[in-house]
Amino acid sequence: MKWTTGLLAFSAAFVIAVPVSAETPAQVSVSIDTSHPGDVIQPAVEGQFAENLGRGLYQGIWVGPGSSIPNTDGYRNDVMAALKKLHVPVIRWPGGCFADTYDWRDGIGPAAKRPRRINGNWGGVTDDNSFGTNEFMNYSERLGADAYVSLNLGSLPAHTSAQWVEYMTSDSDSTLAQERRANGRDKPWKNLKYVGFGNELWGCGGDMNATYATELFKRYAAFVNPAPGAPSFVKVASGPHDTQYDWTETLMKNGGKQLGAISLHYYTIPGDWEHKGSATGFTRQEWATTLSKARAIDGMIARHSAIMDKYDPDKKVALYVDEWGTWYDQEPGSHPGFLYQQNTLRDAEVAALTLNIFFRHTDRVKLAAIAQMVNVLQAMILTKGDKMLLTPTYDVFHMYIPFQGATPYPASVSGPEYKQGDVDLPMVDVSAAKGTDGKLYLSLVNLDPDRAAHVVTGLKGAATGQILTGPKMDTHNTFNAPNTIHPMAYSGKMSGGKLSFDLPAKSVAVVAVTQQ
Ligand code: AHR
Repeated sequence: MKWTTGLLAFSAAFVIAVPVSAETPAQVSVSIDTSHPGDVIQPAVEGQFAENLGRGLYQGIWVGPGSSIPNTDGYRNDVMAALKKLHVPVIRWPGGCFADTYDWRDGIGPAAKRPRRINGNWGGVTDDNSFGTNEFMNYSERLGADAYVSLNLGSLPAHTSAQWVEYMTSDSDSTLAQERRANGRDKPWKNLKYVGFGNELWGCGGDMNATYATELFKRYAAFVNPAPGAPSFVKVASGPHDTQYDWTETLMKNGGKQLGAISLHYYTIPGDWEHKGSATGFTRQEWATTLSKARAIDGMIARHSAIMDKYDPDKKVALYVDEWGTWYDQEPGSHPGFLYQQNTLRDAEVAALTLNIFFRHTDRVKLAAIAQMVNVLQAMILTKGDKMLLTPTYDVFHMYIPFQGATPYPASVSGPEYKQGDVDLPMVDVSAAKGTDGKLYLSLVNLDPDRAAHVVTGLKGAATGQILTGPKMDTHNTFNAPNTIHPMAYSGKMSGGKLSFDLPAKSVAVVAVTQQ
């Protein structure tokens, strides 16, 4: 294959170098079936996970009111403003593995009096607990996000969790509600919509088996309830990882009436746990393997859902993919245990492909939380001192806002496969949905890092939106060059009476279609 480098102008303001293939674009056709809409895409599938891990909370979103980094009440202004633009629907906190070690009482009251604790899961660093319940609940409220709080089932009694929930949700004159008032919050928070009962109970949450974990869920769920008059919340049992189907079977069979949802965790790791692979500077094979592994969640969701269907044909219990994303070797020189990694165009593709998969499983997948929001794993945002950059994953989440609350339509795509070594994938992936504004939205993902596609739809009309692409597979932003990759204006065109798109190699596009 021959390559030259060309200049493609996406907007008056930005010109970026992109590879121009001598190969003719692949011909791809897409047909949208508007007669079979799926269940609404719950906004919560575009949720975020923010664990007390590394620089996710501290330095990432919280610098404290005395910091020289511009902040409002201790929250970084730059990160807060960027997250507001994402319309974050829900934030899961405080873990993760951290959840089953956390005593909520450590994180309330005057900051100077809070105990210092060692974060045993994540780097063994000392935590001054200055970011606790009030700080998290106020933050999610300021972002307009629902709160998803994970309880400690692994190492504290049910009574402690029940008291935590009373502290957050009671409007009475109980001692706990008065304690909250004394800590500066008069009214209970109304946005506690999800409560997680432990995390990864098969592993860091207590090394339990499925039967024991299911019994524990039922016991804690019996005692942990919203305060009188408070909004109800979904009780989420700690569920399986990957292909741990027996865990789902046990939970669904014996989970009882309190079971509102079960969680599923799946991470995309190009290599293995010992050698995960680098976030940048990877090969074509690693690109392909990563996208292939990301797509594997489709089959897992299908099989977990099929098990759930056996016990819950009316689909009352939801599947929450409350940890997902890429996991690479941490950045050289970063603190061991902080899970800090760069984020490239490859991550953007993983994000888009994964969200598209969630949109195809809206009957069960009602919430998802990418791991994690800032500075950890597949983050939206990276910070260094007072600097901040937005990642390609942030861009995808921003471009995908119109899918929140939209009604998905099946899209069938026919075209060539993208092949690399032993990996064989559909070259183009498409999502279609009717947004809450009545417009038809399309997401188009070209997985091939080398070949452009000419995508012809059965639609007539105009389409405008944005595209994310770059000259290299690992194009990314750095603190010195924070605008290397970002979305550009993009549109389709009518050709031969059909709405068509010229989709560059390795790109993600989202457009709104105005149909004729
Ligand atoms: O997201 C990092 C960790 O991955 C979480 O703490 C844990 O739940 C998972 O194993």
